[in-house]
Formats: sequence, C-alpha cells, structure tokens
Amino acid sequence: MKLSSRFEKIEPYLFVGISKTIAEKKAQGIDVISFGIGDPDIPTPEFIIDSMKENSNDPLNHRYPESEGLPELRSSIVDWYQKRFNVSLDSEKEVVSLIGAKEGIGHASFCLIDSGDISIIPDPGYPVYAAGCNFAGGEVYKIPLLEKFGWLPELSKIPDHIKKRAKILWLNYPNNPTGAVADLDFFKEAIKFGKENDIAIMNDACYTEVTFDNYTAPSILQIPGAKEIAVEFHSFSKTFNMTGWRLGFAVGNEKLVQSLLTVKSNLDSGVPQAIQYMGIEALKRSEEFLDINNGIYEKRRNKLVKALRKIGLEVPTPKAGLYLWCKIPKEYTSAQFTELLLEKCDVVVTPGTGYGSSGEGFVRLSLTTPDDLVDQGIERISKWNLI
Ligand SMILES: Cc1ncc(COP(=O)(O)O)c(C=O)c1O
Repeated sequence: MKLSSRFEKIEPYLFVGISKTIAEKKAQGIDVISFGIGDPDIPTPEFIIDSMKENSNDPLNHRYPESEGLPELRSSIVDWYQKRFNVSLDSEKEVVSLIGAKEGIGHASFCLIDSGDISIIPDPGYPVYAAGCNFAGGEVYKIPLLEKFGWLPELSKIPDHIKKRAKILWLNYPNNPTGAVADLDFFKEAIKFGKENDIAIMNDACYTEVTFDNYTAPSILQIPGAKEIAVEFHSFSKTFNMTGWRLGFAVGNEKLVQSLLTVKSNLDSGVPQAIQYMGIEALKRSEEFLDINNGIYEKRRNKLVKALRKIGLEVPTPKAGLYLWCKIPKEYTSAQFTELLLEKCDVVVTPGTGYGSSGEGFVRLSLTTPDDLVDQGIERISKWNLI
C-alpha cells in the first residue's frame, strides 16, 4: 500500500520517539526522570473536575456538540478576553472552540494553503505549524529565531519572493521552546507586516497565562486593527492542567475563524459539552487558581536554573512558559547531549533540534516534573561532570 505523497514530508511526532525511549528504559527496570514533554503533572483543579461530574450526568451533554462551541463557552471566552486583554470580540463570529489548540493549529492551514503556497514558521518552533502546512499541500519557509534578537523573527529579512507566496506567518509568544516573550511593539510590527503583504498572522498564545515574576503577557489582538489579519490560539491544557481533556479556542479575524469552523464541522463534531462546561468554570475562577499553579512552576524554574548554572550550563530565567532553554557545551550536538544525559544519568530532556535546525546547541527542559523528581533529577545531573 502506498501512502499519499504528503507523508514524505511528515516526520514522526517528536514525543512519540522520546516516549518510546522512556518505555524501553522502564522495561529494563531503569527508573528514568523526564524533563521531556510539557504535560502538567499537577492535577486538574477540583472545582473544574466537579463541573465535569455534574455536567456529565445531564443527557443533553451526551449528544453531538455544535462545532463552534456552546454559546455559554463562547460568551465566557469573550468576557475573559475583555477583562484580561481589554479586547472586544463577537461571540457569534470571532470565537470557535477547539479540541485543544493543536487541533486548531493543525487544521488552520486548510483555510489558506493551496499547493505551492507558503507558511512562514519559526525555527525552532512547535512542530505542528509545519505539519499542518505539509498536510495541506503547502511549503514551509523557516525563519530562524536567534538569541541575539531575543528569539524574535527578523521579519525584514524575509525575501520578497517568499512574501509573495506566503499566506500565513506563525508566531508563538510566550514561546515554546525558547521561553522568550514578545512585547506590543513586536506584535505591532508583525501586524503591519501581515497587512502590507496580505499574510495572515496566526499567534499561538497557549502560554500567555503561565507567567512568573509578575510578568503579564500581551495578546496580539491588542494592536489596533489586528483583527483584520490575525487569529490567536489559546489552550486550557497548560493554563489549567487540562492536557487530557482537550480544550482550546481560536479568536480574531471573522473570515479565518469562520473558515476554521467550516473545516472543523466537516471533519470533527466539536468538543464534548461536559468538557466545554469545565472551560467555563476554569475561566470564571482563573485568577484565584493561576497564582498558586504558576507559583509551583516558578519554584521549579528557580531550582533548576540554579542547578544547571552550577554545573556550568548557560540558561536564562524565563518570564513565561513551561520550559528552560539551555545552551549546551560546544563539543556536543544537542542530540548527543540528550543521549548522553539519558545514558549516564537516566534523565530525559528534549534536543533543541527537535524544534528545527536552529535549535542546535540547545536542549529544552520542561517544568512539569513533580517536585521530588525535580530534586532527584538535579542530583543525577549534578553528579555528571558535563564540562
Ligand atoms: C506552542 C504550543 N502550542 C500548542 C500546544 C498544544 O496545546 P493543546 O494541548 O491545547 O493542544 C502546545 C503543547 O505543547 C504548545 O507547546
């Protein structure tokens, strides 16, 4: 059986390989400590689970949901956006619920990309931007994110022949994997770039609520006129420890939101309603919950940064997101360093190159490892003389 030609461009999903390695080690009786995938170890808060329990008993929630999401969820999202970012949205036209942000990000390319069209994606970057484009039959142009520019793309360096064929520019701030943040000046430049070149700006804003040291992340939709060209993706996964429930949303430009809904209504039937009610509850009580949750990550961040610096590695202290982006010694590639760490310390990190070739020289550590394992992991890493 011959698979479609689009599979030639699709690589196995990064964490499938890493999970396999961990499983193999475990099968050999080796207890591995993973700083790999960003999957919160802290349980979904009880008040959100309670809402699931209550709503799962209602037969109305046992039937097909509407693809766009319950009106009550869309209204909650609109209220939250107004309060959080001072951005007004129309719940009927500018909001769509998603089966996790990954689903929406993956499907978004189908709205704009025809054969021969280009998506401009950050390198290093979340692999789904490229996968969605490739599945839609498009081509990817990778724009390097460099440390010297604060891990922001240099939009002025994108060649004219690429701009002519590009339909989407993907952004992701706060950023995975680099931990970088963008300010409103950068978002303003991106919106200007999008309007001048008729390129849709898709900002993956999954980490805006996971912030430290009193930092508040902006929304690209705060830029006046942004809705003419931009869409923003959000996730309940990282914010509310809800990776397993699958809930996210996209907001912004009406044409893009509505075409994403058309794709979704033809391919999936939306988010189970009891899960949508969890989202309503989560947004209602986000403020009281987030301080506690982010406080846990902040402590882990501080501990790990200190330990990594102590063994001679260079690592900045991120203001947001769930990751440390750590520079490794020059004598190793990021794949070699990752392998050695697993071999010598039974510790898993993600090689920077898993996010693109510009990730060479770095590894990513996730903060979603339980506190006791963070301590054990630090102990193991500290014993290995890396430098
Ligand atoms: C940058 C980025 N976007 C999107 C997602 C996916 O989020 P969700 O669980 O809502 O699909 C992730 C998950 O790791 C991510 O890191």
